[in-house]
Amino acid sequence: MYKMKKVYIGTNWKMTKTYQEGAVYCNELLKISQRLSSDIQLFVIPSYTMLSSIKEILKESTIQLGAQNMHWEEKGAYTGEISPTMLSEIGIDLVELGHSERRQYYNENDEDINKKVLAALNYEMNPLICIGENMNQKENNISVETLAAQLKVCLKNVSEEDLANIRIAYEPVWAIGENGIPASADYVNEIHNEIRSILTTLYGSKGKNIPLLYGGSVNLENFLEYLQLDNVDGLFIGRSAWDMTSFKEILSSIDNLLTEEVNS
Ligand code: 13P
Repeated sequence: MYKMKKVYIGTNWKMTKTYQEGAVYCNELLKISQRLSSDIQLFVIPSYTMLSSIKEILKESTIQLGAQNMHWEEKGAYTGEISPTMLSEIGIDLVELGHSERRQYYNENDEDINKKVLAALNYEMNPLICIGENMNQKENNISVETLAAQLKVCLKNVSEEDLANIRIAYEPVWAIGENGIPASADYVNEIHNEIRSILTTLYGSKGKNIPLLYGGSVNLENFLEYLQLDNVDGLFIGRSAWDMTSFKEILSSIDNLLTEEVNS
């Protein structure tokens, strides 16, 4: 049985769309979103080049706009980086931090991510912190320890007051992308329960309300199963949301589920 609360559904476009494609997508999403339950909190995370133009498209809507990364410093000699001041100036709502591709290809670590989390909070943007174990850690049965260490460091010095602005995405590295193996709903259930318990150990009852999203090969076959798990508050989707036909199908099924719940 589905539980009534806000569900967070969003997509990370990675490096896949041009501005032209992104604009067509967002205009379509805007139309679809007007027919959806207000309990669905949508978000899109495009590439930097189109953030201000997409902000214009989404400005009258409740769809949140995110950036895929951010430096923690306000300004300075950091060629190629984008600061929290720059993102907040264009009204960015959310910053994705610590995605496994950033950790894997650009050597980001939990300490860096922690500095970015604190900077995002300082600028009133929601950090969407990505955590996940790799296949080696899973096979060595240290998934939970890995996630606990990631959470502890990424959330260092985050106050209880700021918790309401934190979002966490559990994305097992082995489940992400073209070569990803979709996780079983049982595994996602087990790990999300563990993450919840790590958060309550860190923050007491306040740790119960932090939205926990699941991501990694979410597709038309598995999204409903994941979403109906107790500690899954939303989905963070790549490939299956890049194509509007499939994202639309996902969104209308979630909307039906929420509507059935209201009427039951
Ligand atoms: P896929 O859904 O394509 O596996 O990507 C998930 C992801 O990386 C979201 O950040």
